[in-house]
Amino acid sequence: MLDQARSLGINLLDTAPAYGSSEQRLGRLLTDRQDWVICTKVGEEFLNGKSYYDFSETHVRHSVERSLRNLNTDYLDIVLVHSDGNDMHIIESTACLPTLMDLKEKGLIRAVGMSTKSLDGGLKAVELSDLVMVTYNPSTTDDAEVIRYANSLNKGVLIKKALNSGHVATAGENSIENNLIFALTPAGVSSVIVGTISPEHLRENVESVVRALA
Ligand SMILES: NC(=O)c1ccc[n+]([C@@H]2O[C@H](COP(=O)([O-])OP(=O)(O)OC[C@H]3O[C@@H](n4cnc5c(N)ncnc54)[C@H](OP(=O)(O)O)[C@@H]3O)[C@@H](O)[C@H]2O)c1
Repeated sequence: MLDQARSLGINLLDTAPAYGSSEQRLGRLLTDRQDWVICTKVGEEFLNGKSYYDFSETHVRHSVERSLRNLNTDYLDIVLVHSDGNDMHIIESTACLPTLMDLKEKGLIRAVGMSTKSLDGGLKAVELSDLVMVTYNPSTTDDAEVIRYANSLNKGVLIKKALNSGHVATAGENSIENNLIFALTPAGVSSVIVGTISPEHLRENVESVVRALA
């Protein structure tokens, strides 16, 4: 699927320590590292079927070093704070963002941001970091304001849940194609992260987007 994605023109991969063995698998498979933009995260860990969160300086440094090892690379293009939902608390009362900024200064990370779960958190993360990852689909549009704000400040925006985590129809108003176009339409959207384990869906999704942009 990586070869297929690459030949379809996709170059951004989204992973996280909380996504099982995703980082290790990518680290084994990505031989042409410089051709990919790799986005990973810090803060959430998934162990024995349960998530737990740690936004401390010690954990963030450990997590980034582990991601570098797992992904078999000496730099990470993007590291996002993997929010537990308490966006403002993480931003204002933990060392997470300042620690990531320090690792960016040291050259280990190219861009720092936050995958947010609230409007106020999204707006604050836009101000304080390089990019945000927000939910945006026809049934969840609260973060449109975050996208507009990021665009006005020239910050990056990644869209998650464009296909409502799979709860979409194959045709009509709530179709895959409509949702993809909906997510790509606002000014300032840098990229849409779409999950699939199906080569057929991957091809269809790219074809939909290419048709829409033609
Ligand atoms: N959900 C979150 O909270 C979250 C947070 C941060 C980052 N992310 C990132 O976003 C990625 C995607 O997760 P998401 O929750 O945002 O899901 P999503 O992309 O909105 O939807 C993915 C689902 O859509 C299905 N799908 C994709 N293309 C399809 C097609 N052409 N026809 C029919 N079904 C199709 C996939 O099933 P098939 O596998 O069968 O194609 C999968 O079940 C994650 O892997 C992660 O990298 C998610």
